[in-house]
Amino acid sequence: MPTKLHIHGGAPLNGTIAVDSSKNALLPIIAATILTRGVTVLKNVPRISDIDNLLHILIALNIRPTWRDGDLVIDTTDITYNEITSATAAKIRGSIFVLGAILGRFRTASVPYPGGCAIGSRPIDLHLQGLRDLGVRVIEKNGVITCKKTNTRKEVFLDFPSVGATENLILASVLGKTRTIIHGAAREPEVVDLCNFLNAAGAAICGHGTSTITIQGVPALAGTTYTAIPDRIITGSYLIAAATCGGKVTLTNTIAAHNENLIDKLRKAGCGIHINSDKITITTGPPFTKGVPAIRGRGFLRALGTVHTAPYPGFPTDLQSQLAVLQTISRGTTHITENLFENRFRYVPELKKLGAKICVTRDKSITIKGVKSLTAAHFSVNNSSLGATQLHATDLRGGVALVIAALAAPGSSVIHNAEYIYRGHAAIERDLASLGANIIRTDD
Ligand code: UD1
Repeated sequence: MPTKLHIHGGAPLNGTIAVDSSKNALLPIIAATILTRGVTVLKNVPRISDIDNLLHILIALNIRPTWRDGDLVIDTTDITYNEITSATAAKIRGSIFVLGAILGRFRTASVPYPGGCAIGSRPIDLHLQGLRDLGVRVIEKNGVITCKKTNTRKEVFLDFPSVGATENLILASVLGKTRTIIHGAAREPEVVDLCNFLNAAGAAICGHGTSTITIQGVPALAGTTYTAIPDRIITGSYLIAAATCGGKVTLTNTIAAHNENLIDKLRKAGCGIHINSDKITITTGPPFTKGVPAIRGRGFLRALGTVHTAPYPGFPTDLQSQLAVLQTISRGTTHITENLFENRFRYVPELKKLGAKICVTRDKSITIKGVKSLTAAHFSVNNSSLGATQLHATDLRGGVALVIAALAAPGSSVIHNAEYIYRGHAAIERDLASLGANIIRTDD
């Protein structure tokens, strides 16, 4: 269903919001329940479409997921082996995780190729090579990957610390008698959270959070109760929104250590950041006079110069587009290089519609020259969308970047294809409205 966000921008953000649990931690954790016997309760799980789509795959294995007061209850008592059809798997790249989990549970798995996505081709060669290195027989035929476990080898060296490949190899190795070592593993907090969940269910994993993870196979995993880590990308997006729009915002349910790289950049850009246990408070710019539109920009925010995306603890690719928006109204010039995914600049033409001076300079880089303020169309009729600047989201994070830009731009904007944003945000309009933003969601 096409979803739109209607935004009247130019006001600062003020108030407190709680950050949801991490989508990217929950997707592999939900897949990991395939390895467990009994009932798992995942606390405070956001109702987002990526999770709903993954649950369809679990249902195809005769697993019963139910929602109870914001918790997700997953009963694997009647689990049965089934091949996953392409119609079930096509909707979400997270479906690739079920390959490792089904293989770990049944020693055989058959899933369709996940295909490409909006931010790039997203190959799975590292997943499959890693499985082969562990002695798994992998056959790719007619768009279907079939794996059979033989468990003859115990060590794998990843050439690149892929998050998904690391998670898949962990899921494939948890059950059994073998001791598996993954070298060159991803160190992202979401990988650590998956291992913490698995250990809580009875696994014996150590070294997670470093680039060498050791997994001692165990005979079985039990159901457990678990709360996933806060979403560091939502935390980062809202911090950047506050920095861009001005005001004072406190985020609760955060782990500041997971956002250290961004927090350092926001401080360098001129924002005040205060951390107190699970709370992060950000203050930006001079006080705003009541009734006067908040014009941010030159003089208040400093350009960051050079930014490169990199695997954790480097600057996250998932915050690249949002940071670019902040730089559009910062004093000076910033170059951002995207090292993870090739199609992550599709928001650039949309930002130009709001007056941003931003261009793709090379394949992997953009240059941004700060302007005084972004501006949206000024002739909104009775607060309707007539005459508003029309912006089009092309992926989840790029869509969030457009929301931040529209909030900072005095005037009216409409963001089309906002359903991308709801893949990862349960209710972005509710969160931002509670901070004083003028934002409304409509579903056609
Ligand atoms: C995960 C996150 C995503 C985030 C990304 C990088 C989830 C559900 N998604 O995606 O939001 O942007 O980490 O932090 O957790 N690659 C290969 N071959 C492979 C696998 C990956 O070449 O087999 C490449 C990718 O094309 C990309 C890079 O490795 O250039 C990083 O990908 P990866 O770390 O695997 O990201 P995902 O797990 O897909």
